[in-house]
Formats: sequence, C-alpha cells, structure tokens
Amino acid sequence: MAKVSMTVNGKDASGEVEGRTLLSSFLREQLGLTGTHVGCDTSQCGACVVHVDGKAVKACTMLALEAEGAEVATIEGQANADGSLNTIQQAFQDHHGLQCGFCTPGMVMSAAALLKDNPKPSEQEIRDYLEGNLCRCTGYHNIVKAIMAASGQDVSSIAAE
Ligand code: FES
Ligand code: FES
Repeated sequence: MAKVSMTVNGKDASGEVEGRTLLSSFLREQLGLTGTHVGCDTSQCGACVVHVDGKAVKACTMLALEAEGAEVATIEGQANADGSLNTIQQAFQDHHGLQCGFCTPGMVMSAAALLKDNPKPSEQEIRDYLEGNLCRCTGYHNIVKAIMAASGQDVSSIAAE
C-alpha cells in the first residue's frame, strides 16, 4: 500500500492505495464520490470521465498513484456554489439530454472540457468530441443539443428527436 494525496473538487484528499488501484476506484470507494460512474473499466464507455489538472481523463485508465499531487474535478464539484445546476447541467435537464443518467456525469465532464477549449463548437465538433462517451438511451441527439445550448448557440437547426 502507498499513500496518495491530491486535491479533489478543491479539497485535499488522501488515502492508502495499492499500486493497481484505479483513480475511478479511489474516487468512488475511498472518497465516496460515486458520481463518477464505472460502466466498463476498459476505457470504452466514458462514464468515468473526470478532469485531472484541467484535462478530461477516463478515471478507469489512470492509476490513483498517477494522480499524486494533481487537481482532480468530478461531477460532485460541478454545481454552482449555491447548489444550483451549472450551465451545462441545466442545459442537459432543459433539453432532455439524459434518460437513465448513467452516462451523464461523464457526458457533463466531457462537455465541460470541450467548452473550455472550444467555447462555440459546431454540432459536428461536439459529436466528434463525444466519440469516447457512450450512451445507451438517448441516441445522443439531445446531448448534442444540450451542449450547443450550454455554449449559448441556437439549437433550432437541430431537429427534435
Ligand atoms: S468505466 Fe472508464 S471508460 Fe468505461
Ligand atoms: S442516459 Fe442512459 S446511458 Fe445515457
């Protein structure tokens, strides 16, 4: 076992992990941050996307020890300070960008990373960026629409599904 320390959603977090412990497991099992979902553990589904030092990362592809000293952000830290949904979360709600919600934390974290780098992405850019995030429910259409809306763009050209 080895000690690992990082900042998670602005707070110091540390624990004892095995060398093989994944960041997703550390977040969920030791810190209780179960909003980071695990759908595959093999880097396919994107349900586990978090930000590590500002970059979107699939938390099942990284060892907890590799995040030593990093700034990690998870879905639990995304709401506004008063607890209300942030712009992206609200847009997912407004545009029905979720059904069962299993993929949603990863989708929101990926969307946040995209909009940070590309504040006004085209529909195609959003679809390309979300290639690593799988959703079994929505058909993606309303997710794309939500992200377009969150970026302040007109979504009327995206037909209703
Ligand atoms: S659980 Fe990490 S990509 Fe599926
Ligand atoms: S809303 Fe169910 S997997 Fe995306």
